[in-house]
Amino acid sequence: MTNENGSAGHVRVAATLHAHDLSPAAHFQRLILVLLAAVGGFLLVRNALVPESFGRDGHYRATAVDDIVARESRYKGNATCTECHEDDANTLKEEKHQGVPCETCHGPARGHLTNADSRVRLQVDKSRHACLNCHEKISGRPSKFGQIDVEEHQKKQEFDGAYLCLECHDAHNP
Ligand code: HEC
Ligand code: HEC
Ligand code: HEC
Ligand code: HEC
Repeated sequence: MTNENGSAGHVRVAATLHAHDLSPAAHFQRLILVLLAAVGGFLLVRNALVPESFGRDGHYRATAVDDIVARESRYKGNATCTECHEDDANTLKEEKHQGVPCETCHGPARGHLTNADSRVRLQVDKSRHACLNCHEKISGRPSKFGQIDVEEHQKKQEFDGAYLCLECHDAHNP
């Protein structure tokens, strides 16, 4: 263990120890410097990343509200349909489905109210499921609301499971 390499290593370790032999006060100063650097760095990064209007009105980016308002709404409302689908709108207005907005059945009309080339087609769901979503008998539904037990309804109206509701009911004038 006391060969040439071993003792040289021992001297190097001692020298290193000596170089770091700082007083407790100096240690403390270094610690403070490191902490200050960390806090300063955090503040710089925070300043760069937090949007300008953050905190103006509350704990959120105030201009986010404007951004959301500027977005095009997905739903357009019944009044916008009347212009091009007057007949459907008039039928619905007088019938039992008057309380059901068009877009509840046909989906959001964003992209549909444009010219023919770019018009988005809306869904036309003719399945039983589309009607039963609202009309299947569930004990939680108000008893006055029109609802059916499918099997009973089939027996009473004498139709089988292959029938669509639309074969007897008009979707707009049920
Ligand atoms: C209860 C669900 C429901 C509501 C509410 C509803 N629709 Fe429909 N609509 C349907 C279904 C189902 C069909 C397919 C009917 C068929 O082929 O027998 C359809 C068909 C259509 C069609 C294509 C065929 C046609 O009759 O011209 C248009 C256009 C249409 N609806 C527009 C509207 C508009 C506008 C409103 C609101 C004023 C509306 N719908 C409200 C379910 C609904
Ligand atoms: C600017 C005129 C216009 C307005 C407004 C409009 N539609 Fe249409 N809509 C059309 C035309 C034209 C068609 C026929 C498209 C075809 O046959 O290729 C159509 C077709 C439909 C269809 C059949 C499926 C399809 O997309 O082809 C439904 C359902 C429908 N519209 C519902 C609505 C609803 C609900 C609204 C209101 C939110 C509405 N439309 C507003 C012009 C309009
Ligand atoms: C989003 C829910 C909803 C959907 C989907 C829906 N309806 Fe309705 N339906 C209603 C409401 C609301 C009424 C009116 C409430 C009432 O009078 O009981 C109604 C009324 C009716 C009535 C008259 C009930 C009565 O008591 O006289 C029939 C029949 C009917 N709907 C059939 C259908 C058919 C067929 C479909 C599928 C094309 C359908 N509905 C889809 C909500 C819906
Ligand atoms: C073979 C024709 C036929 C078919 C198919 C049919 N119905 Fe009916 N439905 C009727 C008749 C007729 C009435 C009115 C007499 C009655 O209340 O039983 C009626 C009444 C209703 C009512 C009102 C019930 C009440 O107590 O107020 C609802 C809701 C209804 N049907 C929904 C549906 C749904 C949803 C489907 C599809 C699963 C459907 N019907 C399929 C003929 C049919």
